[in-house]
Parts: sequence; structure tokens; C-alpha cells
Amino acid sequence: MKKIGVLTSGGDAPGMNAAVRAAVRKGISLGMDVYGIERGYAGLLDGDIKKMEWKSVGDILQRGGTILRTARSERFNTQEGEAHAAMMLDTFGIEGLVVIGGDGSFRGGLALAEKGIQVMGVPGTIDNDLGYTDYTIGFDTAVNTVLSLVSNIRDTASAHERTTIVEVMGRHCGDIALHAGLGGGADVILVPEVPLDINLVCRKVLRGQQSGKLHSIIIKAEGVEMSANELAKIVEERTGREARAVVPAHIQRGGTPSGRDRCLASLMATKAVQLLYNDESSKGIGICGSEIVAYDLAEALQIKRDFGQDIYDLAEVLS
Ligand code: F6P
Repeated sequence: MKKIGVLTSGGDAPGMNAAVRAAVRKGISLGMDVYGIERGYAGLLDGDIKKMEWKSVGDILQRGGTILRTARSERFNTQEGEAHAAMMLDTFGIEGLVVIGGDGSFRGGLALAEKGIQVMGVPGTIDNDLGYTDYTIGFDTAVNTVLSLVSNIRDTASAHERTTIVEVMGRHCGDIALHAGLGGGADVILVPEVPLDINLVCRKVLRGQQSGKLHSIIIKAEGVEMSANELAKIVEERTGREARAVVPAHIQRGGTPSGRDRCLASLMATKAVQLLYNDESSKGIGICGSEIVAYDLAEALQIKRDFGQDIYDLAEVLS
């Protein structure tokens, strides 16, 4: 294989640039031509495709976002869109594609794989919601960003003796809340994987108050049905202590990637390009323990996520 493409798709994640850099430089070092496709599948449909040089990816390792930019393309998600995208790749002579994104992006990749393109999926999403891999690129940075916010919130919440509900991202997955909750010593962690019991939440907050705690922190994943504001209202009414909602939203998606995300991205994207070079069929790249692994792309998408019940239980014991 001589020509490969790389694109970032869906929500951006810190570390995507490190993955783009690794894909481009690994490809060039193997003697391949590497093309950067802008704005994910949207740019592929529009033919926004440019040849990347070694220097095109200089000075980006430490930057959040993605230099290729990203999009969620409705146009691509149609039979005509997929056919047009495959035709575009053919026009540029691109036989293999590195798709950096989440499950929606992988499904797009699978559609192209079914049209004869070799596609390697590199999991780039802060949500950590892909079942076949222990971690996705961007998750670690997002958790650290939330932890830093929680530290700040603790200071002011203690000063005012308040309860704060921090709503974090993750779509239908509670992993950001779970890990930030354990690492940040939250009094309550609310995730979509565990049914919400508002009475229990209030009891836990009251228990903290009665034991002399100056503040309570509740970390709630966005996938939990009740909004942070609704929850704050109920908790305030039932505990008699002021409660505020904080929604950091996209703050947790930007910022310089952690060392862990940069390394993960570099290792995974390198593996993706090596597999294309070896002429392997389409794969989803992941990490299992400390090993970089590759599963058949269709199978990777079928693997169900395990909820981190052990982490959840431990956070309960320690809070
Ligand atoms: O998938 C990443 C993510 O940040 C989710 O956690 C969140 O639900 C969604 O994207 C937000 O999307 P948008 O940036 O389009 O508002």
C-alpha cells in the first residue's frame, strides 16, 4: 500500500493531534504517501484532502483539538454519501484510511471497509465508551481537567458551606464521572449505568453535613436523566444546604493532552499505519492492559462495555 489517508471525526479529543502526527510520520517513514482529510467524512465528501509532509505535523503534539478539524456529517451517513466518499478515496488513489474518532466514526469506517477500503479505527473520544478497548484517547485528559475543576470548586464550596453538583460529559457512558469521582473524592457519583436514587443521594449529603463536612461534591454524568439544576434544587430543599450546579461542558474536551493520552495516541496510530502497511484487513486499535491490540473492526464495534463496578464500589467506601 502506497497511499493512505488520515481523518479525525466526531467530537474532538485531546490527543487527536498526537495521533495524526504519529500516523503521518510513521507512514512517511515506511515510504508511504499520507493524505490529511479535513473535517472528517464531510471533508472527504468535499475532496478537502491534502498531502501531508513530515513538517505538516510539527509542533502539534501538545495541542488539544485537531489540526485536521472535525465534523459529524449527516451527508456521509446515507448510501449515496458512502458511495461518494469511496469514490473520492479512489480518485486520490487512497487505499487505506486511519479514522480517529468514536463509535459513530468507526461505523462510518466500517461502511467504507465494506466498499473495499482498508480502515483502521483509532479510538479518539473523551467518553471512553468503546467496549473493545480499556481506554480511548482524550479520556485521561478530560478526567484530569475535571479533577482540577473539582479542586477549585472544593475551596469555594467549603467557604460557603455548599453542595456542588458537577455535570461531566460522556454521552451514555459514566466513565468520566466514575474516574473523576474516585480521583476527586466525590461524596456521590451518578452514572447512567446505575439507576438514580434521589433519596439515597440526599441521605449521603446529609450524612456528610452531620459529620461536619463543610461541603459536598456530587459528580454526575450527563447521561443521567435528571439535569444538574433539577438535582441541585431537590438536594437543596431536602438537605437545607445551598446547592449549585456547575456544567464545565466543552472545557473538559479542550486543553493540552496529558502525557498518557499523547503516548496512547502515538502508540495506537503507529500500530494502525503498520497494519495498513502489512496489508491487514480493517481493524479497531485498542489497549488491553499495557498491550496495544487490534480487533476486526466489525467485531470491535460489537463488544459491550463493562461498567467499572469495582471503581464505583470503592468510591462509595472511600467517600
Ligand atoms: O462524544 C464526545 C462528546 O463531548 C460527548 O461527551 C458529548 O455528549 C458530546 O460530544 C457533545 O457534542 P457537541 O460538541 O456536538 O455538543
